[in-house]
Amino acid sequence: MTAYEGVIRTEYHGRAGEILISGEQIQRRVAELGAQISRDYADKVPILVTILRGGVLFLADLMRSLTVEHEIDFMSVSSYGFAKTRTSGVVRILADLNMNVEGRDVLIVEDIVDTGLTLAYIRENLETRRPASLRICSLLDKKARRMKDVHVDYVGFEIPDRFVIGYGLDFAEKYRNLPHIVALKEPGES
Ligand code: PRP
Repeated sequence: MTAYEGVIRTEYHGRAGEILISGEQIQRRVAELGAQISRDYADKVPILVTILRGGVLFLADLMRSLTVEHEIDFMSVSSYGFAKTRTSGVVRILADLNMNVEGRDVLIVEDIVDTGLTLAYIRENLETRRPASLRICSLLDKKARRMKDVHVDYVGFEIPDRFVIGYGLDFAEKYRNLPHIVALKEPGES
């Protein structure tokens, strides 16, 4: 039994799930991204900025695949929009970075870009702090849902418009520990 076997199930909060991207596929892709980022930042010491909480698993694996020196920092944000719909595009910063990023190379590390509203706001906010460079790396890109155009420099996987959990992504705060990206079927869908 692998360390993760016990957390895999067929239903999550009563909804059936199917593996969309396996843990192995994720690990392979993370290694590729790590190699690419290490090449691109060869002579630099980037600060990896992760937006809590979904991106923490990706960050933990990505940083272990980097061969360049780097630092990490975190932000926590919440949307002012209606709880689940996030249509306002206004984001409240609940916890800011500890570090001063002026003149530094900043790489935002996210788990998913969905509507793009969160990242568009954060990107604009961080730009005002005058970093030397600012790029975005997201494990998942759900292009079909985009409301705000935001350029993602490093993408792990483009995914269809499905509700996904695992590898940092939650359903009612649970299941972030799944090693795979699991897509949930709609209620009643077989
Ligand atoms: C997710 C994800 C991004 C955001 C993307 O976070 O980590 O920050 O949603 O969505 P958008 O492109 O539509 O703005 P979430 O608010 O679910 O919080 P969590 O990371 O704590 O799960």
